[in-house]
Amino acid sequence: MADVDVLGIVGAGFMGSGIAESAALAGKHVVVHEPEQAPLDRSRAGLERSVAKAVARGRLDEAGAAGVLDRVVYTTDIGGLRAADAVVEAIMEDPKVKGKLFQELDRLLPDARFLASNTSSIPIAEIAAWTQRPERVLGLHFFSPVPVMSLVEVVDAVDTGQEALDDACDFAASIGKHTIRTKDRSGFIVNMLLVPYLMSAIRMYEDGFATAEDIDEGMKRGCGHPMGPLTLCDFIGLDVMYAIGESLFEEFKRADFAPPPLLKRLVVSGHFGRKSGRGFYDYSGSRAAA
Ligand code: CAA
Repeated sequence: MADVDVLGIVGAGFMGSGIAESAALAGKHVVVHEPEQAPLDRSRAGLERSVAKAVARGRLDEAGAAGVLDRVVYTTDIGGLRAADAVVEAIMEDPKVKGKLFQELDRLLPDARFLASNTSSIPIAEIAAWTQRPERVLGLHFFSPVPVMSLVEVVDAVDTGQEALDDACDFAASIGKHTIRTKDRSGFIVNMLLVPYLMSAIRMYEDGFATAEDIDEGMKRGCGHPMGPLTLCDFIGLDVMYAIGESLFEEFKRADFAPPPLLKRLVVSGHFGRKSGRGFYDYSGSRAAA
């Protein structure tokens, strides 16, 4: 069993950047790929901010911070991933786009220990089917914000091999994450439980049963959750929530997974939550906005 010293990441959004930060903090070298330069620049700036904050709070010294920044490189050239011992993909939730990417990664990295998807709900089998070596393909589902959340779901698809699963679990442990294993069903363990709860909160708000603030305060103060459900939806991204709800509904045909009409209306209007400045809350003033 070989260690993963160099991690490849495809996708420089919130999740990909968080995975890069966690891996670099644990001493790994990281190559982050995106076809466009702008998301790479944003990812780099985010890493610099996060590392500076860690130094200011005494969690990292100057040398440690410089090491983290040195260990992460960014490239628009997918060929740059050839240096990687394993790859984690964190791009848009579209099975065809992911499938084509995995086909390319499979060709590019014949010796990689594993090719993992960070998908929240797309069947890993559907992605693995695009490759010649489906035994190397599995899910590694991280939670947001990745540097803070210690969980990774390891998703074992029909053709995933034991060696790839063991290597992926070892890798996750080596960057300080706790792993739980799950079969390849949409939603895995956590979203299977979390999504019906979040969709119920949206329906409750849509029905005019309570205000967004009271729904959120109810779960924060009543159940000790760090964020109320509508704030959490805005944090995850309403477009992401919608895609996860659709995938779960398609898989199980159960109404509690289906995205409520209000969620669809917000998404088609470009209100994706915190990242777009408006979702259930308006982030210029933090008032209920939907
Ligand atoms: N990157 C790095 N560190 C971060 C961070 C980020 N993006 N966001 C917060 N932190 C760190 C802060 O630096 C701070 O660390 P220190 O105390 O050492 O300085 C710590 O986390 C706490 O942050 P804050 O004080 O700013 O704020 P907070 O106490 O309100 O915590 C939170 C913020 C950690 C996000 C907390 O609100 C929380 O746990 N929320 C729930 C998150 C959650 O449920 N995530 C799962 C989403 S579901 C998912 O991801 C799966 C899916 O498929 C949809």
